[in-house]
Amino acid sequence: MKYYITTPIFYPNSSPHIGTAYTTVAADALARYHRLLGDEVYFLTGTDENAQKIVRTAEAHNIDPKVYVDGVVKRFKELWEALDISNDDFIRTTEERHQKVVQQIFTKLYEQGDIYKSEYSGWYCTPCETFWMENKLLEGKCPNADCGREVELLKEESYFFRLSKYQDTLLKFINEHPEFIQPSSRRNEMLRFIEGGLEDLCVSRTTFQWGIKVPFDPHHVVYVWLDALINYISALGYPDGEKYKRYWPADVHIMGKDIVRFHAVIWPIILLALDIPLPKVIYGHGWYLTKEGGKISKSRGNVQDSFELIQRYGSDAIRYFLLREMQVGSDGTYSEDNVVERLNSDLANDFGNFVSRSLAMVVKYRGGIVPRPGQDGAQEQELKELSHEIKNAVEKSLDAFDPARALEEIWRFVARCNKYVDETAPWSLAKHEEQRERLDTVLYTFVECIRVMAVLTAPFMPGLPSRICKSLGVDEGFIRWEEADQWGILEPGMQVQKGEPLFPRIDISQYMTVGETKIVNQSQNIDQNINQTQAQKETIEAEPTPALEFEPIKAEISMDEFAKLDLRVAKILSAEKVAKTDKLMKLEVEVAGVVRTVVSGIAKHYAPEDLVNQYVVLVANLKPAKLRGIMSQGMILAASQGDVLEVLMVNKDLPGGARVK
Ligand code: MSP
Repeated sequence: MKYYITTPIFYPNSSPHIGTAYTTVAADALARYHRLLGDEVYFLTGTDENAQKIVRTAEAHNIDPKVYVDGVVKRFKELWEALDISNDDFIRTTEERHQKVVQQIFTKLYEQGDIYKSEYSGWYCTPCETFWMENKLLEGKCPNADCGREVELLKEESYFFRLSKYQDTLLKFINEHPEFIQPSSRRNEMLRFIEGGLEDLCVSRTTFQWGIKVPFDPHHVVYVWLDALINYISALGYPDGEKYKRYWPADVHIMGKDIVRFHAVIWPIILLALDIPLPKVIYGHGWYLTKEGGKISKSRGNVQDSFELIQRYGSDAIRYFLLREMQVGSDGTYSEDNVVERLNSDLANDFGNFVSRSLAMVVKYRGGIVPRPGQDGAQEQELKELSHEIKNAVEKSLDAFDPARALEEIWRFVARCNKYVDETAPWSLAKHEEQRERLDTVLYTFVECIRVMAVLTAPFMPGLPSRICKSLGVDEGFIRWEEADQWGILEPGMQVQKGEPLFPRIDISQYMTVGETKIVNQSQNIDQNINQTQAQKETIEAEPTPALEFEPIKAEISMDEFAKLDLRVAKILSAEKVAKTDKLMKLEVEVAGVVRTVVSGIAKHYAPEDLVNQYVVLVANLKPAKLRGIMSQGMILAASQGDVLEVLMVNKDLPGGARVK
């Protein structure tokens, strides 16, 4: 099966942002999923460079428009690379391969009478690149809900495209193909819009020269939307290219809700006029809004630097967040603290923790060798059935262009896997030799669960499978979609390692300025990051610090005395509050290849999930002591003053067992 998927082509009038990235990440997840299904996928993205607003922005920067867009297009390509976008092509509308197709189509439509010359008299919104009749304006401004900006009066000779001629054919098509515009709320909007009556569309401009010239009347440039929509076939080499024959019609054009109208009206009418098949689906998703409710957009200046975000949290985490938070038919809310919250809870705590805990147990109890399982019990049977149910649900959600739902389903499986660890309690099984076979089954099932999780999440977080495969000592050929609900795929005897934590927990206070997201203000210069941190820090530092009462410093000791202390980095494997106390936390820590139990008075300050997988400093040669009936083998270091306490944590690159001196 072939699968042709596209994103809109982006205006390179300024660098891409995390809101614009959503469409591309969603399209990428779908493309990757279809590749895993074995489909022959063609995934297209690109840039829409012939817009009037590009000339305006370039002029404002005193730069030649082509030089300007070349710079911004480079940023787009870099961002897609940083986000692991697997597009097969990147089309720029300033490329000759595109321009010649636009000219050919314009001429054909003119020759067959679908384009005619007349005069346009009306209004134009340059930010939206849209023509408006006077009676549509709202208080004299652009009526687009997201815009509301000044419009300009145009009175110029123009070519017009006979949209009105195709109105009934289009309506009939939409009514006969309910799947054509999705979700259905957008379809209803479009039906109402078309039923309201289509006016012929102005498709050329004469007041500036940037753009594709009308070949038989070069005084005119082609209207940017007519030009842009054609990218979906020019990139395939329309009309004779092999790719065009193989991939057209598109299986889905993914886009934001603001531009569904252009894709559901102008684009199908161009195709109807050319007598070529219409795309199968036009899917319009919502927008990413800020916490305050406004759309994330360059013109609002509320954009955060996407590269900085990816560097901070990793491409997988950003992709996960974007895909997880956008529900079908509504908008998503973006804020950096929400990203951290998702990362810490869903990725570090649920997913990462299961992987590290279970691999640590295979290492601890079987030296890292995956054991041969014994007879399945009811819990293993339940997991198998669940994987089947989840795989089907993920497929159904992705067929309905709903990655958020697909991820929700996968996390049902992740939650079940975590519960399985608690239910089977391998640490207790390990204490009884007669439970050896049961422990083998549990440990084997752990590793199979990790494999299933890696396969199911592969379309969404493409960096993850390779990291998991590394821990499992297998290559990525191991990720086979059809095996996501098959069990017994793993060969007993394979050697696994604990590996690095997949998603280290993030302490947001390192990055956030007080109460507010750090913003990159793009309004002054497209790539100038105006960092608000310094100014805010100064305000904070200016406030007087209340006098503190410190404990007196203790009597001097010699170096030899200090050297008696054996301080080690220790990795926390598990943490649980000690029953009937509010202060004590029982920790299982790994140090120099052994697991120790440590009881620590930190329970008021940390939740167990904040501690698991963290690397702390352990006084390793402290005489064991019993606390609340639990033998504590050492003590972990923490700094405290008054009511504040912070456990000392160490860079994760140091293994449990490293000396602290
Ligand atoms: N150039 C046109 C598309 C032509 S396609 C033949 C265009 N470009 S754009 O750069 O303004 O927008 C591209 C896409 O980014 C649109 O789908 C738009 O909805 C999406 N987004 C822009 N800001 C967004 C958010 N804050 N959230 C989600 N999507 C957003 O329109």
